[in-house]
Order: sequence, then structure tokens, then C-alpha cells
Amino acid sequence: MSSVIEVKGKGFTRIIKSKVMLSPLAGVTDKIFRKLVRKWAPDSLLFTEMINASSLKKGYGIQKIKKLELEEGPIGVQIFDNRPFAVSESAKIAEDSGAFLIDINMGCPVKKIANKGGGSALIKDRLLAIEILKRVSKAVKVPVTVKTRLGWENKDENIEEFLLNLQDSGAAMITIHGRTRKEGFTGVADWEMIGRIKELLDIPIIANGDIKNPEDAHQCLKKTNADGLMIGRGILGSPWILGEIDHAIKKLKGFKKPNIEEKLLLINEHLDELIKEKGNHGLLIARKHISWTCKNFPGATKLRNNLVRSIDAEEIKELINNKIKTLKKDQKIISLKTI
Ligand SMILES: Cc1cc2nc3c(=O)[nH]c(=O)nc-3n(C[C@H](O)[C@H](O)[C@H](O)COP(=O)(O)O)c2cc1C
Repeated sequence: MSSVIEVKGKGFTRIIKSKVMLSPLAGVTDKIFRKLVRKWAPDSLLFTEMINASSLKKGYGIQKIKKLELEEGPIGVQIFDNRPFAVSESAKIAEDSGAFLIDINMGCPVKKIANKGGGSALIKDRLLAIEILKRVSKAVKVPVTVKTRLGWENKDENIEEFLLNLQDSGAAMITIHGRTRKEGFTGVADWEMIGRIKELLDIPIIANGDIKNPEDAHQCLKKTNADGLMIGRGILGSPWILGEIDHAIKKLKGFKKPNIEEKLLLINEHLDELIKEKGNHGLLIARKHISWTCKNFPGATKLRNNLVRSIDAEEIKELINNKIKTLKKDQKIISLKTI
């Protein structure tokens, strides 16, 4: 099995030196979060949040892909919309902004998007899906990829035929979340079905769904024989998980997970960056991340409750610094007791 993923675009081939990718996650995978994930995952392909084609054209979506070329490592831009021309025009904008590749969202189950014919609705409207893909592939030189699910209502909707058509129409790689649109996030991702699809297609297939740690990754690779894996919810509160899984897959030793103190310092660092970039709105975003990160250590619940109630960044940082001091003091006492 190759240790790199080759994604062939019209203009050139992109090489990804890690099998582990970061999912596009709306409201999460912004520039600041990607920078955090990158610390542990220098080789991984990281995706932007999904971006609406109109917003890229009108300008406010541009904020989300500004200066991609200055970010370290490969960044894929994900676009959602159901209008072929709008998607191809916005894909060109993203390419000019430094996108490593363009991904078309054909899997989002959110009603606001699917009811308008975008995201997972494209699994139903296959002619339109193919038209979008062809237009985008014609417009850009970077590879064009698709992220989708196993079906709209059920899993028996000739999804294989659809995916083969996407491949023939220019998809350079397909990520499959092993659930249908109807399943949303319920049940268990069907890795076996992803494996059956992988056997039929020639382009790289990326397995997605329920991969949260190195053991899941190992099992998923075994069941699917996929070319790569995509991590979504597993990253929430654990920005190092991509790097940890990558290390495990590459059979490298010595991955150092952050300890409690380092996790807390990470919260402060993330908060600082968010405030610097987004002002007060950054605080709201930080709270969400705090509630994911501040877990699974003594006193975490109490600290988390205090942190997410605070409306003052300096207070949050002080609470965290105090907790670190207490942890250090407790450690000293324990080591004195063991002498
Ligand atoms: C908060 C959140 C936001 C998401 N946003 C996107 C998105 O913008 N584009 C997309 O294709 N999928 C999106 N997804 C779906 C994930 O990319 C992924 O396919 C799904 O969570 C399954 O993977 P997981 O089990 O590793 O979480 C989102 C999921 C979550 C939980």
C-alpha cells in the first residue's frame, strides 16, 4: 500500500504525504483552528469549512480562504451550491487564492442546504452533480474532488454507479462518509460498504465516519483498504489527533500527546489567536472549543463551567493559569509523598 496519496488534476498531480485528513467542519475548521491542527500534522490535507459559492463570489466568503498560500501544508477548499456556473466561478477564485485542491460538497444533510438542491441533494440529482463536476474540472487546473455519503434515503440506490460516473467525469478523489443522508449522524458508519466501493474505483477513496483514534483508523483501513482516512468529530477538543493517527499509521514511535497543563495552555493560545483575529466574536468561538477541550482530568467539569460562563478573555486566561498552578502544586505534593 502506498504511503502517499496521488491526486491527479487537469494541470498537475498533487501528492499528499499523509493518509489522514481533516474533515471540512462548518464553524470549526477556520484558519486559526487549522494552524493548531497543523502543529501535529505537517503533512496532512486540511479542509476549510464548506463555503457557499455565492459568498465566495460576493466577497464575504473570501475571508475564509484569504492567504491560503501563506498557510503551511496543503489546504483543500470545500464549496457547496447547486448552480454549476456559480460553483465553477468560485472554484476559480479558490484556486487563485492558493487552494491545493477543490472539493465539492455532495453530502451535507442539513435541510437549509439540501432543500435548496445542494449538498446531499446532489446524490438524488445525479445529472446536475455531474454537470457541476464537469464545469469545475474545466475551470480549474488543481484536482477537483467530491465528498459524499452512501445514499439519500437508503444505501441501495446504485451509489456505486453514481460514484463511477463522478470518476469518469473528472473527480480526482472521493471521500465517502459511511452513512446515508437520512441517517445523519445516527447508527454506525458502514466501512464494509466503503470497502466494496473502493474495489470498483481507480481514483483514491477516502473513508470517513467514526474514526476517532489510532485503533479506529487501523480497523477502518483494514476493512476498507481505503487510500486515506478523514477525521471529523474526533478532532473536536483534540487538535493533535490527526498527528497521533498519522504517527500510528506510519508506525513511527514517540508521539507526544499534550498533558493536562499543555492542553490548558493550548486553550489560552487558541483564545489569544481568536481574539486577535475576530475580536469579541472570537470569545464566542473559543467557548465552543473550551467545552470540547476542557474534559477528562480532575476538576475539568468545574473549570469548564466557569470558563464557558465568562465573558472576559483575561478572566478565562487567569482561571486557566490558576488551574495550572494548582496542578503543579498537587504534583509537587504527590512527588514529595512518594520520596
Ligand atoms: C460540526 C460539524 C460540521 C460539519 N461541517 C461539514 C462541512 O462543512 N462540510 C462537509 O462536507 N461535512 C461537514 N461535516 C461532516 C464531517 O465532515 C464528517 O463527514 C462527519 O462528521 C463524519 O465524520 P466523523 O465521524 O469523523 O465525524 C460536519 C460535521 C460536523 C460535526
